[in-house]
Amino acid sequence: MTDYRQLSMDVGAASADVKKEVTVLANASALIYAAMDGLNWCGFYLADGETLYLGPFQGKAACTEIPFGKGVCGTAAVRDASVLVYDVHQFSGHIACDSASNSEIVIPIHKNGEFYGVLDIDSPLIGRFREEDREGLETVIRALEAALDKSNCGVR
Ligand code: SME
Repeated sequence: MTDYRQLSMDVGAASADVKKEVTVLANASALIYAAMDGLNWCGFYLADGETLYLGPFQGKAACTEIPFGKGVCGTAAVRDASVLVYDVHQFSGHIACDSASNSEIVIPIHKNGEFYGVLDIDSPLIGRFREEDREGLETVIRALEAALDKSNCGVR
């Protein structure tokens, strides 16, 4: 089990005094990917209007745009809530970027209280993600949001 408290501190420390959002997100994707077992993709989709655009990530090249309401990411965006998918093949509308993916978790991100995008994590294992992971990753995202709130650069 990932030590999410440690991971939150690592994400916070890596973001300290970083001026560019893209830099914060790039290191956060690397830290999360390295800290969790059994992943094949971990990264960010960032909102612009009602579309999510691919941001920094670890893993294979992925789809570049996801409309709000589409796929697991777009569902999390319209609900503004985390979505945990035990088996992506049972999720109607799932967008398959990497055919190796079998389970997925998506956590919404806010900047200064406004919806900003999502953290998307995929696993080749069915049922990889549990409630403990959702809670832990939401803690990690709180640390990330604190860094984004401080950064005042619009670079995405
Ligand atoms: N599976 C996602 C698409 C993004 S890839 O997993 C990287 C979805 O259904 O929204």
